[in-house]
Amino acid sequence: MQNEQPSSTALLIAGSLVLLHHDPKHSALVSKASADFCAEVLETHSSQSRLLLKLVRQGWFRPIAKLIDRVTIPGILLHYILRKKCINGLMRSALINGTTQVVIIGAGFDPLSFELHQDFPAARFWEIDHPATQRHKVRALPKTDVERLHFIAADLNAAALDKKALIKCSFDPAQRTCWIAEGLLMYLPVNIVSSLMKTLTSLSALGSRFVFTFMEQQSDGRIRFDSQSKLVDWWLRGRGEPFLWGTTRSELVDLVRPWRVIRFFDRNDLRKMESGLTDEPIARGEVICLAEI
Ligand SMILES: C[S@@+](CC[C@H](N)C(=O)[O-])C[C@H]1O[C@@H](n2cnc3c(N)ncnc32)[C@H](O)[C@@H]1O
Repeated sequence: MQNEQPSSTALLIAGSLVLLHHDPKHSALVSKASADFCAEVLETHSSQSRLLLKLVRQGWFRPIAKLIDRVTIPGILLHYILRKKCINGLMRSALINGTTQVVIIGAGFDPLSFELHQDFPAARFWEIDHPATQRHKVRALPKTDVERLHFIAADLNAAALDKKALIKCSFDPAQRTCWIAEGLLMYLPVNIVSSLMKTLTSLSALGSRFVFTFMEQQSDGRIRFDSQSKLVDWWLRGRGEPFLWGTTRSELVDLVRPWRVIRFFDRNDLRKMESGLTDEPIARGEVICLAEI
């Protein structure tokens, strides 16, 4: 991460959401509220992000975006959107079934906690993110219920997740919690990933859930999406966000203990969530894991 700048990948995801919302073929996959919030993030960040916003709203830009998708990571845009849809569904089902606390780590510009705090008035939410990204998000957010939606800035590479800061913001370790780390762990070295898992364990009451994504290590040991071009490796390195950690499903089962893996969601599962995408590529390489303690 570049310390003073919001995450470039989080900005890119915000741009992808606006793009797909304006694409008649995919607009139903991204709510208007999500697209509007992401547009606000891009509008208020910088002249480059404003330009990106202008482009992704133009019909003529769609074939160009499709081409960029194809030559960088084929199907990455649909992957982002379906990953979000899957995690949104898991969170809503947990909240309906008695979870009262949701903590999103590395939330980026995802409006999920904002939407959920409106739809579930009895639940409380926390976002933990790198200070530079979080600062910009908080500026762009509409009015929130500050008693139920809390923001904690933290660089996880610099210090372990601060339990005291969470508890000070009225987090209760005795209550059932859902933790989310979407598109985050691949940017952290393995020792930080493993220490984060331990911290979450110590803060989680029985029945708590952890939804996170990880890069599935390729057979040659590389950590990347299938067909990811060298251009992407170079761009991620240049933005200070190279992939550092990946694993296999069987190694992960051991790494997350005492969390118990309930299931994985991969590209095939994401494809099944939406009819009408059979002829479209969806990127392969990042898997969603649902675990419980
Ligand atoms: C690819 S974005 C994903 C954002 C969001 N979860 C989503 O899926 O739309 C990566 C996120 O991880 C956060 N992040 C990366 N390294 C971090 C670190 N060392 N400490 C805290 N947050 C970090 C970034 O600020 C960013 O919000």
